[in-house]
Amino acid sequence: MEKLGLNEIRKMFRDFYVSKGHYPGKSASLIPKNDKSLLIINSGMAPLKPYFLGVETPPKKRMTTCQKCIRTDDIDNVGITARHGTFFEMMGNFSFGDYFKEESLNWGWEFLTKELKIPEDKLWATVYQDDDEAVEIWKKIGMPAERIVRLGKDDNFWEIGLGPCGPCSEIYYDRGPEFGCGKPDCKPGCDCDRYMEVWNHVFSQFDKQEDGTYKPMEHPNIDTGMGLERIACVMQGTDSIFDVDTIRHILNGVVEMSGVPYEAGNRQNDISIRIVTDHLRSMVFMIADGILPSNESRGYVLRRMIRRASRHGRLLGIEGKFLAKLADRVIEISGDAYPELVQQQDYIKRVITTEESKFEETLGQGTEIINGYIEDLKAAGKTVMDGEEAFKLYDTYGFPIELTQEILADAGMTADVEGFHKNMEEQKERARAGQKDTSGEAWKEKAMPKDLPDTEFTGYDELQSEAEIAAVYVDGEPAEKLSEGDRADVYLDRTPFYAESGGQEYDTGKISCGDSVMKVLNVQKKNGLFRHEVEVQQGEFKKGQRVYASVDAARRHAGARNHSATHLLQKALQEVLGDHVKQAGSKNNADELRFDFTHFEPMTAEELQKTEDLVNEKILEFLPVETEVLPIEEAKKKHAMMLFDSKYGDKVRVVSMGGWSVEFCAGTHVPNTGMIGAFHIVSESGVASGVRRIEAVTGMGVLKRAEHFEKLTRETSEILKTKPEGLVKRAGEFMSELKDAEHELDAVKKAQMGSGAEDLLKNAKEINGVKLVTGKLDGASIDDLRTAADQIKAAGVPSVMVLASVNDGKVTMVVGVTDDLTGRFNAGKLIKPIAKEVKGGGGGKADLAQAGGKDPSGLENAFKTAEALIS
Ligand code: ALA
Repeated sequence: MEKLGLNEIRKMFRDFYVSKGHYPGKSASLIPKNDKSLLIINSGMAPLKPYFLGVETPPKKRMTTCQKCIRTDDIDNVGITARHGTFFEMMGNFSFGDYFKEESLNWGWEFLTKELKIPEDKLWATVYQDDDEAVEIWKKIGMPAERIVRLGKDDNFWEIGLGPCGPCSEIYYDRGPEFGCGKPDCKPGCDCDRYMEVWNHVFSQFDKQEDGTYKPMEHPNIDTGMGLERIACVMQGTDSIFDVDTIRHILNGVVEMSGVPYEAGNRQNDISIRIVTDHLRSMVFMIADGILPSNESRGYVLRRMIRRASRHGRLLGIEGKFLAKLADRVIEISGDAYPELVQQQDYIKRVITTEESKFEETLGQGTEIINGYIEDLKAAGKTVMDGEEAFKLYDTYGFPIELTQEILADAGMTADVEGFHKNMEEQKERARAGQKDTSGEAWKEKAMPKDLPDTEFTGYDELQSEAEIAAVYVDGEPAEKLSEGDRADVYLDRTPFYAESGGQEYDTGKISCGDSVMKVLNVQKKNGLFRHEVEVQQGEFKKGQRVYASVDAARRHAGARNHSATHLLQKALQEVLGDHVKQAGSKNNADELRFDFTHFEPMTAEELQKTEDLVNEKILEFLPVETEVLPIEEAKKKHAMMLFDSKYGDKVRVVSMGGWSVEFCAGTHVPNTGMIGAFHIVSESGVASGVRRIEAVTGMGVLKRAEHFEKLTRETSEILKTKPEGLVKRAGEFMSELKDAEHELDAVKKAQMGSGAEDLLKNAKEINGVKLVTGKLDGASIDDLRTAADQIKAAGVPSVMVLASVNDGKVTMVVGVTDDLTGRFNAGKLIKPIAKEVKGGGGGKADLAQAGGKDPSGLENAFKTAEALIS
């Protein structure tokens, strides 16, 4: 058998099936499409379900793919054994109602024995217990009867999640008796390591339903799957996927970086090396398919892997962020087969590093905390960590529960997982309660007419429309007429007023007839009806009356500038940051726009500048803004950007700005981007994990902001007596002058204290060979007093000092004793009766004590008390 590289085997498989009339399909994304039963693609057939079920037509009835897959069910075993990995590639041949068992098994045999040249006597087959047909086919192929094994449903009926499934036949490779258990009846299906399953041929005949029943499919299909890493093990004579050439390349990187040798055994280092190696593959492929680390669903799987790998890197002694560097190795060896990795190399590495940094920030602290918990548990003789504590680690330090469990397991402990989830639910509940925005809710739930035809919206084409008052509601009750001062809800048969939706604020304006005027304060839409919240300013109105409805044009235009700019901004962000940018929310009104989007890290100043410049360029290109109402399928063909997961009707309105930005949108826009005038980003910030927010202004808003800052600059320049251009220099000069002045002042103060201290010492009384220094130092702080005491002590004369200052009617005081006298006097004790005289108290050590007091008039007595105490 020739030793073949993994990449080579992949190509041979594809070429072989193409020669058998198969269409070579590309690997689908790891994110399942329209398949709620699956979190991540986990087999070759998963993305092809619609072809099996006849919902979609395949490019050809025979297909072959090599599909990237992730399975996390065994994630805890990854690293511990050398056979488990989360990421793998599955090669398969598929028949959608074309050929069946006979061809599939014959070609399988041919590929293994003729292409890969695996000796025939090394191969075994298992079949579903009642499948005589498969047994006959195998015999015809030349498989001796004793190497065909019938097994039950557990082994030879394939299903995963919902959808296509059926009985199967698996091909096994015999690694030789030295790997076996030695039992005389050892054969495929035995628990020992001798027979390795390499290729599963599923005779896909049923469609598993949600209720658990098996619905026969219209025509039988073939779905086969051969793990590429597995067959590479066979071809490279190993039973460890970590010894397969491509994976070894990554593993070697981990070894080089950590300096820890790989001994292919079960020591903690070997386990860590394998975990990092495997998880690197998964993270690189997941990110390339648009998954970002988060606390939900696929994003959480990714987060767990990055964090787990990061921790194991640390256990290996790697310092700092390292995963992105190793990601290069994954891309190096898989980039030819998966060009999306190469195209997004920088992006993939940035996502990894961002997540690693986030984890790094809390890892150290979290590890300390968890070790503390473990100690506490040990001391208390317990082995189960509270759900609340596990949750705290998750919530505060970003420790996925699985990571906490893993660390606890090393100490022979477990976590209360149920309690953890309970805490998580409670927190979500609190968040939901906190988030609920009830403003406007009451308004939306107000009573409204039931039998009116939908309001005709005229506001795309005109700002003033003639209309009829179709219904009036006052305080939730239908009304016939309105008079001055009334507040009401008014429904018109047609209206130019835009009702709040899609992030665009409602229009305001007025409804009038002759001298009668009502102000429109708010407009909402429900069940096809536009509800105008109004206040009658003058005159009267009645139901059925014909009126003029006029939108406040200046406000509408300002709003339109912001809304149109939001579209340009989204497109610009995708150009600057990448296609992963998706709208996560938006809000725009006459004053500003706010745009939330998916991105994993703060934008740099440079990226912000580029984005702003690009939007302004597109404004100055005077792109025409065109709208079209199209059937949704046609709109999708134009690659219009749509809100992820949003529900759209059969027909959608598509807004195109010179073909550069194309979006589904029902809002009102400027007719030409030139009318936006100008665009300026005011701020960029984070609103949730993986979601950023940009706030910006347009048109007059940009001008107003510029004027505001110009005024500030002018006023500041006047104060600093310079021209605006000289401000920065001047401010710098001032700061350094200020620092110099502070230093000088300090020096002067010190000198003053020094000479003050000298004077005090000169004038001190001598009592029994001890100098008693008393003095009031005006304006001195407690630090100044301490300094003065130190200076007196430095004179080397045995002395006791009582120094005080009065600030704002309060006394501050220190008592000091030179070291040679601390045997006789204790400052901490002396100060108490002394401070009493100024109605205060304090304390300290034998050589220095301090006190505060409320009564400056007692200071003289305080000094006298000191004298009495020394005598
Ligand atoms: N769909 C089958 C499997 O994944 C071939 O094993």
